[in-house]
Amino acid sequence: MLANLLQEERRFAPAPDFAANANVKQDAYARAEADPEGFWAEQAARLHWDTPWNAVLDWSGAPVARWFDGGRLNAAVNCVDRHVAAGHGDRVAIHWVGEPGDSRTITYRDLRDQVSRAANALVELGVGKGDRVAIYLPMIPEAVIAMLACARIGAPHTVVFGGFSAEALAGRIQDAGARVVITADGGYRKGAAHALKPAVDAAVAGLPEVRHVLVVRRTGQETAWTERDLWWHEVVDAQSAEHEPEAFDAEHPLFILYTSGTTGKPKGILHTTGGYLTQTAYTHHAVFDLKDGDVFWCTADVGWVTGHSYLVYGPLANGATQVMYEGTPDSPHQGRWWEIIEKYGVTILYAAPTAIRMFMKWGDDIPKKYDLSSLRLLGSVGEPINPEAWMWYRGTIGGDRCPIVDTWWQTETGAIMVSPLPGVTATKPGSATRPLPGVAADVTESGYLVLTRPWPSMARGIWGDMERFHETYWSRFPGRYFAGDGARRDEDGYLWLLGRVDDVMLVSGHNISTTEVESALVSHPAVAEAAVVGAADPVTGQAIVAFVIPRGDAVPEEQELRAHVARALGAIARPRQVLVVPELPKTRSGKIMRRLLKDVAEDRALGDVTTLTDSTVMDLISKGLRG
Ligand code: WT7
Repeated sequence: MLANLLQEERRFAPAPDFAANANVKQDAYARAEADPEGFWAEQAARLHWDTPWNAVLDWSGAPVARWFDGGRLNAAVNCVDRHVAAGHGDRVAIHWVGEPGDSRTITYRDLRDQVSRAANALVELGVGKGDRVAIYLPMIPEAVIAMLACARIGAPHTVVFGGFSAEALAGRIQDAGARVVITADGGYRKGAAHALKPAVDAAVAGLPEVRHVLVVRRTGQETAWTERDLWWHEVVDAQSAEHEPEAFDAEHPLFILYTSGTTGKPKGILHTTGGYLTQTAYTHHAVFDLKDGDVFWCTADVGWVTGHSYLVYGPLANGATQVMYEGTPDSPHQGRWWEIIEKYGVTILYAAPTAIRMFMKWGDDIPKKYDLSSLRLLGSVGEPINPEAWMWYRGTIGGDRCPIVDTWWQTETGAIMVSPLPGVTATKPGSATRPLPGVAADVTESGYLVLTRPWPSMARGIWGDMERFHETYWSRFPGRYFAGDGARRDEDGYLWLLGRVDDVMLVSGHNISTTEVESALVSHPAVAEAAVVGAADPVTGQAIVAFVIPRGDAVPEEQELRAHVARALGAIARPRQVLVVPELPKTRSGKIMRRLLKDVAEDRALGDVTTLTDSTVMDLISKGLRG
């Protein structure tokens, strides 16, 4: 393995004043280690249970766990009603910001009434316990309301990201067997109204089993209308705000969420109620050190698991006040996020490295124009964060006073698994540090991250394909969960995530991680963002080819960057080629599509580009290369 000079340079001890007030104390690790089930039972007790559980964990059906077996609860009641009952009805649940500048303030009492109305509407439309409902909405409050209304009546939701095509939507509706779809006429992104309803029309045209399409009016765009369509404001607003909730079994399905991954058909990841809610609520409270008066902002879309766990279930279970933003960070100007933080006094920001690197590229002057002094904690999720981006986030956004929590987890894990605890865990830029209390992880000899003990929010299966569930996650290392990520552990026992297993290159017999080379490149002042692939090479097996985006007005120089990587990581990691490009191809969830870059590097026709956010990017890159 390569010595990692970049990553060993800096460490940050917890600030003493922060440590004194942290929600979780140092001894949580030891207590959880001594009695993991007792530890999780303690966390589950933070929720409201209508019936207590008989057993904390039943692992006899491994790898399908039963957590809090026999317990009964209602997820929506836990996220909404119980806060109103506790006297917090006037507390703001959601400060919603529309992209065009409109806004809505929703208190916990408002949320309770609206979720109850939506639940009554779904019942009227014939949706009952166990029936699946597809949700295809922009980032508007109705997305949260619809999810909670489904949870309230025990109807598992399957949220499909609004950026997905009609075809992708149809596949998910069909696989989940949903009979009702909730959508909107459209939503605002990049300064314009984008229609959603036409994609639903196309998707359900060939699906006669879909009985109703409930449509929220957001943009006022003209839309085709069929006898299956119903306006949300007509059906939902007419309902009573009283709905008597039923308690469901802890293992009752809460939702199915499809992950595309790099190969094969999307997997419908199944999550259930009690364990999922326990771990999302616990991690949101512990990792973000949630306090009264905090204003939390998770920037992820509800179409991803991050939105499910840290915009809906975790924060609402904890009675938090949040910001929810509809649009893109550059609309109408590149300071939009910072303007929102200043206006609402956001204290905790949870964002993805891809966004952070984009802001780095746009330059420090933009965030410097805003008052970001309300921030006290910063989070990162979605991919490894390069040490350089980590430092920038800490300094420019966090004013060198906010701890950073780099949180590793997956759609399949349901909640955060590996992350520092602020005020407790010393951090190192680029490392997600160590498993949270109650979680156990290991790195295999072959360099893969595995989880060695069941956890409450673990996936209970792949919808309709349990064989694939066993095969994908539980067969490679029997008894242990195979995460599909490369990792290494340093001399302090800290974990360094190295990207998906497919992102490891084999150069002259050495394993080199794309993440490490990318971090080395991004540590150069002329580079804002980098993507690295292993291209077939007759001499070395694979050779490193890098694509870099300049930082600000800098003009990166190929030989200098090659030498820079060699200095940082050793000669073996020196890229064969460094190409300067204007953009990188990304999936809609912000992950770099290395597969396409590999096609370019190996001079092949491009593969499937349908999941790209912007397919013109590839034209630009190919032209830049050949022109
Ligand atoms: C994959 C899971 C977790 C919610 C968003 C993505 C990568 C995620 C980190 C991190 C390094 C990370 C992994 C993981 N990943 N967070 N902090 N450091 N890698 O959910 O779409 O299911 O993707 O994202 O490769 O396996 P997802």
